[in-house]
Amino acid sequence: MKLVFATHNKNKFTEVKAMLPNRIELLSLDDIGCNEDIEETADTIEGNAILKANYVRNNYNLSCFADDTGLEVQSLNGEPGVFSARYAGVSHDSNANIEKLLKNLEGKKDRSARFKTAIALNMEHEEIMFLGICEGEIIKELRGDSGFGYDPVFQPKGFDKTFAEMTLTQKSEIGHRGKAMRQLIEYLSK
Ligand code: IMP
Repeated sequence: MKLVFATHNKNKFTEVKAMLPNRIELLSLDDIGCNEDIEETADTIEGNAILKANYVRNNYNLSCFADDTGLEVQSLNGEPGVFSARYAGVSHDSNANIEKLLKNLEGKKDRSARFKTAIALNMEHEEIMFLGICEGEIIKELRGDSGFGYDPVFQPKGFDKTFAEMTLTQKSEIGHRGKAMRQLIEYLSK
């Protein structure tokens, strides 16, 4: 069975491929000759995942899944949410994004936040959504240098380490992406 993972990110692709049963032939966007970045124009995280999975299904007639992730901060009405990658304007400038987040949280008592990963699966007769959520809080200073994005300021509930102070294995055991991914894998393994 051929299945596309709608990503250009080689690290994400290798990680997921290693988790899937051998009978699934996993293809990346590059493998199917899709060189463009599929635009994320939806106004929700779930919507963007659906949009990317549908794009591949409609243009390449292949089964596909796609993911999208956002950080939702309670006292900022769910911001940065769907804008997590470009919160400070420039896409994927993590330092600027963190700086803006810490500034917007100055003086706020409630620093609770959660990461949400949505994975949309679009197969011939099935369209399914898997959600992985990790609750935690935004700490006041950066700690740790593993991971990426908001990891140095996100401390998951029940832990005294940020994601950036954890190993990738630890993070994926308790983290949003790991949770959503395990649901997808369990579904595909049936
Ligand atoms: P993407 O949908 O996986 O590309 O994630 C969108 C943005 O959310 C990224 O650019 C990061 O800023 C942030 N993000 C996603 N996943 C994580 C994570 O696991 N840790 C920290 N930040 C993340």
